[in-house]
Amino acid sequence: MNSENIYILGIESSCDDTAAAILCNDTILSNVVATQKIHRDYGGVVPELASRAHQQNIVPVVDQALKKAGVTKDQLHAVAFTQGPGLMGALLVGTSFAKSFAYGLDIPIISVNHMQAHILAHFINEESQTKPEFPFLAMTISGGHTQIVQVDNYFKMTVIGETIDDAVGEAFDKTGKLLGLGYPAGPEIDKRAKLGNPKAYTFTKPKVDGLNFSFSGFKTAVLYFIQREVKNNPNFITENLNDICASIQYTIIGILIDKLKKASKQTNIKRIAIGGGVSANSGIREALKSGEQKFGWTTYVPKFEYTTDNAAMVGIVGYLKYLENDFAEHNVMVNSRLKL
Ligand code: KG4
Ligand code: ZN
Repeated sequence: MNSENIYILGIESSCDDTAAAILCNDTILSNVVATQKIHRDYGGVVPELASRAHQQNIVPVVDQALKKAGVTKDQLHAVAFTQGPGLMGALLVGTSFAKSFAYGLDIPIISVNHMQAHILAHFINEESQTKPEFPFLAMTISGGHTQIVQVDNYFKMTVIGETIDDAVGEAFDKTGKLLGLGYPAGPEIDKRAKLGNPKAYTFTKPKVDGLNFSFSGFKTAVLYFIQREVKNNPNFITENLNDICASIQYTIIGILIDKLKKASKQTNIKRIAIGGGVSANSGIREALKSGEQKFGWTTYVPKFEYTTDNAAMVGIVGYLKYLENDFAEHNVMVNSRLKL
């Protein structure tokens, strides 16, 4: 076996975070993220502005990642980059950078699927993090994705359920916007939900067959509910904000847990891992923990900095693919709709 240490640079630019990380084998030496604040003024990510900000950020972010890691460019063995899915222009910035950087250093490039990266973030070598055994179910929940994936090994992953419209993070952000909360609204809803009554208001859960999700009907139900109540009492939102947030969060978590229960039953797999920005939600974490007692699940939640969009997760896929000599050609193209 080759005992040489492998140094990988990971680059992530699929949405609104410009990120770079340096790994030594499966250990993270640095993990730098520049979160683009410009989108807050627009209540959502503006693709063109994201591309421009990536262009500004990418060189300083990579430079910082190398310096923090105490690694020089010449020590790198490969550059891993997010090929997709994501915003086309945003992906192009990270990919073009990765190609030219690797070309200049005469080292290979490794293309990474962003969804696979969210899942393999569980295999980063980290004291506080237990690596799941195969097979396990991974639920990736963020502003851009909602999927349940059966993971049989590092590279054999099958999507068994996904959203047919909005992502779960969008359900938080869009209903939060209706309440006048800033973007992204998920963390604020979470904070207020702790102070409110989750059963104050009832929203019907969408009926979607199998393991797929739908959140657009839920968003409309909240919109109509708010419009109706505000007509009767113009101060309805301010007077009941915590209860509304708690009820929204309770419904969303119910939708996620129902599908996880179904997926676990269907596959007979009780190891459940979550990832993506929404896995920071305190309600979903509690619901998973209680699933351990109620359904005999073993659950895995990665460290926060490896679960929102980051480059450490891209780097770990890079390392695992490096061991397989799975390199990309220099004419590889980004794919905004790349499938698992
Ligand atoms: O993974 P992420 O940083 O970026 C992508 O969308 O890929 O996820 C961001 C999403 C946003 O929709 C945000 O509202 C949501 O994660 N989020 C939360 C919480 N923290 C972040 N949603 C609910 N509760 C939270 N504590
Ligand atoms: Zn993501």
